[in-house]
Amino acid sequence: MEKFKIPHSDIETTRIAFGAWAIIGGFNWGHQEEKDSQRALRAAFDLGITLFDTAKMYGDGKSEAMIAKALGDVRDKIVIATKALPEDFEYSRLKKDCEERLRILNTDYIDLYQLHWPNWQVPIEEPIRALTELKQEGKIRAFGVSNFGPEDMKDALLHSSEISTNQVPYNLIWRAIEYNILPICQQEQIPILCYSPIMQGILAGKFSTAEEVPDDRARTRHFSKDRPLTRHGEAGQEQETFRVVNAIREIAQKSGIPMVNLSMAWLLSRPAVGSILVGARNAQQVEQNVRAASINVDPSILEELTELTTPLKHLLGANPDMWASESRYR
Ligand SMILES: NC(=O)c1ccc[n+]([C@@H]2O[C@H](COP(=O)([O-])OP(=O)(O)OC[C@H]3O[C@@H](n4cnc5c(N)ncnc54)[C@H](OP(=O)(O)O)[C@@H]3O)[C@@H](O)[C@H]2O)c1
Repeated sequence: MEKFKIPHSDIETTRIAFGAWAIIGGFNWGHQEEKDSQRALRAAFDLGITLFDTAKMYGDGKSEAMIAKALGDVRDKIVIATKALPEDFEYSRLKKDCEERLRILNTDYIDLYQLHWPNWQVPIEEPIRALTELKQEGKIRAFGVSNFGPEDMKDALLHSSEISTNQVPYNLIWRAIEYNILPICQQEQIPILCYSPIMQGILAGKFSTAEEVPDDRARTRHFSKDRPLTRHGEAGQEQETFRVVNAIREIAQKSGIPMVNLSMAWLLSRPAVGSILVGARNAQQVEQNVRAASINVDPSILEELTELTTPLKHLLGANPDMWASESRYR
């Protein structure tokens, strides 16, 4: 499987990663059997994935504990990326949080420790100072940010030249980061870790209309504010979103490549993308998804997908926040 290097570290890891949010089930995902989660994690490792993304936020450590259980015996062969909550960014709290993450992950070191969302109440130099020390102490091998827009990135870069990654939402039907975040990541040579790379299953082709998407997955700004769990107050872009989704399905059928793999391959072809963090609920989904690593997509098809999704990109605009109109990015 193709690999990439995490800057400011000696870590080399896979461009397809396992996103460990959905394996906890519950909100956004519904019922989940733990044995399916365990098998999904193990299948990912067995099929060559070495990067596993998790967070405190995913069940208050539940996802991290699942990784420790499923992959503890191969700890030295995997790269664990976890995240701290914004409320823990104050210097001593972040150091304490790191100890908690290490305990739950049952490990001596975190490979990549990320700031999950910006916290504008705490000056960025505080968490950066803590992260720099943690790295010097060997408790983390690298640190990164997540959901950082250009201003937040510039602020962080003023205080450290060792920001390794930025984790942001990016997929064929969510391209907002291309306006302002991707260019700075490219310029600063900070690889992007793409979250929701298959738009929480929509780009696997399972839904043909907005109505088919369950309410907890219809919270993004693609959907109308009339969907009960939204908090964005916008009209949404349901018609154009599903016009595009159905056209991607047709391109996939024509080219003989499963839609989920085609969507992943497009993302892997984009500039500045380090890795794509794909969620999976069971081993079968992992098996399907890793096929993206070995397919060759004709550049003309990739270009067709870019052109097809550009009007939707413009309609949704430059706000990278999938869920809120008042962007939590700056
Ligand atoms: N930094 C952040 O703020 C942030 C935010 C969100 C996510 N993330 C990270 O990014 C990761 C991935 O994002 P995500 O979980 O939002 O979405 P995603 O990876 O786009 O979608 C994952 C979901 O798609 C469905 N799926 C996966 N493979 C499939 C297949 N082959 N066929 C059909 N359906 C398939 C599964 O759900 P069903 O089977 O239930 O449909 C799965 O849970 C997370 O696990 C997390 O690590 C980070």
